[in-house]
Amino acid sequence: MEEFELNKYEKSKDYAKSPFRYPGGKFYALKHIIPFLDSVEHDEYREPFLGGGSVYLAKAKTKYNWINDLEEEIINVYQHIANSEIINEFAEMYDNEIASKIRHKEVINSKPNTAIDRAFRTYYLNRTSYSGIIHKPAWGYKEGKSSPPKNWKNFLVGSSKKLDNIKITSVDFEKVIRAKKKGKKVLIYLDPPYFKADQKRAYTKSFETDDHLRLAKVLKSTEHYFCLSYDDCEEVRKLYSWANIYERNWLYNTANISGKSRNTGNELIITNFKVKDQRFL
Ligand SMILES: C[S@@+](CC[C@H](N)C(=O)[O-])C[C@H]1O[C@@H](n2cnc3c(N)ncnc32)[C@H](O)[C@@H]1O
Repeated sequence: MEEFELNKYEKSKDYAKSPFRYPGGKFYALKHIIPFLDSVEHDEYREPFLGGGSVYLAKAKTKYNWINDLEEEIINVYQHIANSEIINEFAEMYDNEIASKIRHKEVINSKPNTAIDRAFRTYYLNRTSYSGIIHKPAWGYKEGKSSPPKNWKNFLVGSSKKLDNIKITSVDFEKVIRAKKKGKKVLIYLDPPYFKADQKRAYTKSFETDDHLRLAKVLKSTEHYFCLSYDDCEEVRKLYSWANIYERNWLYNTANISGKSRNTGNELIITNFKVKDQRFL
């Protein structure tokens, strides 16, 4: 099997790196996921469970793009990065910023009442809290966990162009999947919270068994192409027995309570299309 070369992909004009640290982030899985997305022709792309956005930011930009996450505070940050008129003002808020336990506490206790101040607070906490968790109970400060604040401005500005002129929302996933198409062919990449892995601590929005069942039901009847990543467990295999299931293995970051934040795990990539380019499968 030929190995997909992510480092070549990184040189493409569209490639950008996620400015976030994110539990369940798919940076380490890109070399497995991108070949699936590249193998189907589409002029409209949707990603309902965006999180840290590593997949959207890495892939080629299409004519119509729609990114979404139910977590409004993360989406508020994306909206600031995407707005060419305010990205610089936003990114410059971190000039002269420091990362320390005292400052971290100060930011937690701040009560921003404008959208830009809320974005400032969320991104600060994302960069400095344990595993990038933005869920309140887990806002522990970890010394030296993140790249220093002087680098954050470049992280933010670096992903701005890719977010320019696209649709960015904070709604439930079902709405994104069910929406009528704008282009000729829609491809949806979905990365829901895992079925088994302990992600409850990581996100403010809980995702229960009923949500997993609801997702499978909507996907079964969708006219769009989809590519879905999940943890490998019996329940998921059963729910998607009607689709194409591929086994993979990658490093992931679950923000586990065990103390180990990065593990390798058995993962599934599930599609409703056959992959034409078999080189990487
Ligand atoms: C596994 S994470 C996505 C990680 C992302 N692929 C990355 O690379 O960073 C799952 C995301 O689903 C979001 N989420 C939870 N329930 C949702 C819902 N009902 N609709 C849309 N998004 C939801 C969470 O806020 C979380 O950001």
